[in-house]
Order: sequence, then structure tokens, then C-alpha cells
Amino acid sequence: MISVFGSLVGDEEIANVVACMKSQWMGFGKQVDQFEQKYQTKYQLPSFAMVDSGSNALFMAVSLLDLPPGSEVIVPSYTWVSCAQAVILAGHKPIFCDVDLCTMNVRAEDIKARVTEKTAAVMVVHYAGLAVDMEPILALGYPVIEDAAHAIDSTYRGQPCGAIGDVGIFSFDAVKNLTVGEGGGIAAKDPALIERAKVMRYCGIGKSGFDAAVSSAGGKTRWWEYNIKEPFIKMLPTNMAANIGLAQLDRIDALQARRKEIWESYQRDLAGVPGLITPPDAPAGDRHSYFTYCIRVHRRDELAHYLLDNQIYTTLRYHPLHLNPLYEQTDVRLPNCEQLNADALSIPIHPRLSESDVDKVVAFIKKFYA
Ligand SMILES: Cc1ncc(COP(=O)(O)O)c(C=O)c1O
Repeated sequence: MISVFGSLVGDEEIANVVACMKSQWMGFGKQVDQFEQKYQTKYQLPSFAMVDSGSNALFMAVSLLDLPPGSEVIVPSYTWVSCAQAVILAGHKPIFCDVDLCTMNVRAEDIKARVTEKTAAVMVVHYAGLAVDMEPILALGYPVIEDAAHAIDSTYRGQPCGAIGDVGIFSFDAVKNLTVGEGGGIAAKDPALIERAKVMRYCGIGKSGFDAAVSSAGGKTRWWEYNIKEPFIKMLPTNMAANIGLAQLDRIDALQARRKEIWESYQRDLAGVPGLITPPDAPAGDRHSYFTYCIRVHRRDELAHYLLDNQIYTTLRYHPLHLNPLYEQTDVRLPNCEQLNADALSIPIHPRLSESDVDKVVAFIKKFYA
């Protein structure tokens, strides 16, 4: 089966994990600091902390904004469920908005259409790794949370995605451009927010008792007396994950180059297929991450089943959130999200695909529409 998504790890990741296990320090520790410094430097982020998932990073991002209880946060409907769950769990209400049919990204006008007097913040998602047009959204004047789960390595007008709004998040889960198995990160323009995030991620305690003890002159503190700064859940990343991430950072440029090659093959070979709409490239000056390759087609469900019958797994990323009864917004009409729900399909793109895999995907799509 050719999978729609996948990661690639090698001997370096394996060696790092084995060394970590042999060190007997697999939980949170020094390698987390090393990963944070290396990631922050590589992507020129003003400040950055690792956490245990992108979903939890979203919850932390919303929490860090300290919005008035019951505020509304505008969220594109065409995204992963964690975006809405984070808003609700932080005590607010997600208000779903539409996205652009071509870029599949949220635009300022989609947000403006959903603003009320309760609107307190906006969440944007750099869908597939194509940067959202941030300037008109920042100009609206609301705090902006950037979901850059798809946008590791993406840039907008020279700035790294995830560090353009007030707070941004990344995902390092099993299928993302950079994987640590399960993991995430949070970035902010204001380093004070990330200092606070580092306290929050350890149940609101911050420095562990051990660190406090070894850093205290003469060991005179009672290190078992925690100074709990605020109520929060545990989101600590592990040395095991950080060790995988350190090796992934050494190979990320090669992984990205392979994704780009596959993207360009699809752009070239699928361009002439009747009725098939290929995704847009990044505008000049921006950089795409090539996380997912989402086409729009007639007879989408039939195509997906035909490809599956031929050992090619595809998927829809994402079933629009406003259509889910849980959020009680099924009466809201978001025509572009609903159109994408009917005709969008993500086809395989990841660094483990061979040339013949890519050729097979193209050949079967062409055969279906012949
Ligand atoms: C847009 C988006 N945001 C957030 C997440 C959550 O990331 P994680 O899987 O690391 O929790 C995902 C995961 O797929 C995602 O696609």
C-alpha cells in the first residue's frame, strides 16, 4: 500500500534513542534544551519551547493569551479538530469561518464575516504548508494564534511561519515533516510568553525541585517545596523525543528537498488532467513546506475508492469542523469549506515515496479520468 503520509528516520535517530535509553534518563531533561536551541536557531524563532504534542501546544497557545472567559476565537472550519478543542478547553468558543477555495487558507474577509463583540482572538492555519496571507489578518488588530503544524520550514515574506502572530505552534507527530514520534512546539515573539509556557508545561511548577536544589548555593533550600505558579496540566516532552528530533533536524533539509521533488512531479504530471485542480505554489518570496498535496476533483469519492483498490491510500484533510454537531454550528453555511468537503483529496507525499510510487499515483489518477 502506498501511504498518503509518512516519515523517514535512519541510523542516527536509532543511535540517539539507544544512547538515551542507556543513559537511563528518558524523560524530560537536557536533550530537550538542546533540541529547543537547535530548532529555534534553524528556524530563526524569537523564542521556542518543546511540548508533548501539537494539540497540547494549541491549548497552551490559547491559554497564554489570557482572553476573558467565554470569548470567541475565530477558527477556520477546514482544519484539524484540535484547533476547536483547544479553544473550548481554554474556556472559550470557537467560531468557524470559511477559507479560500484556491489556497485553502483563511483570509481576512473570512474572519471579518464572523466577528462579533465577543471576538477576542483569531486562529490561522497554514494549510498544507502554504503560508496564510498574514498582513491583512494582523491588521484586523486581534491577537493571532498561528497553527504551523503543517508549516515546519514554511516562510511568509521572509519570516518563519509560527513566529508572525502572537503565538504559534508546531506538530512533530508521526507524519509531520519533522517527527519525534509524538511531540509539538510553541513559539512566540515575546520571550516572556515562552518562559511562562516552560512553567506551565510542568503542571505550572516550572523548575523541578532537583534543578532548584542544584542551583541553590550550598543546597540550603527545601527542594521538595514546590513554588506552584498557576494551575496547568503536564505537557513535558521527553529526552527520547528530543533525541529523535535532534537527528531529524540534521536531515530536515534533505527531507524537504525530497518533498519538493514529489510536489514538482505532481504539479507537472497532473496539470493536464481534465477537471483536476492542482494546489497553488507558494508566491515568490514565500516558502512552502509541501506537507500535503491536496487536489480538487470531480467524482472524488469514486477516485479515492479506485485508488484504494489499487493500493494507494488517500484522504480528506479535513472534514470541516462546522459540520460536526458537537460544535452546534451546523446551521452556518461556509460554502468554500463545504465545496472542499465534496471535492478535495490529499494524495501521497512524503520522503519515503519512491519514483515508481509517485509514477503509480499519477498513472492511476490519469487512468481513472481517461
Ligand atoms: C492543522 C493541525 N493542527 C494541529 C495538529 C495537532 O498536532 P498533534 O498531532 O501533534 O497533536 C494537527 C495534527 O495533524 C494539524 O494537522
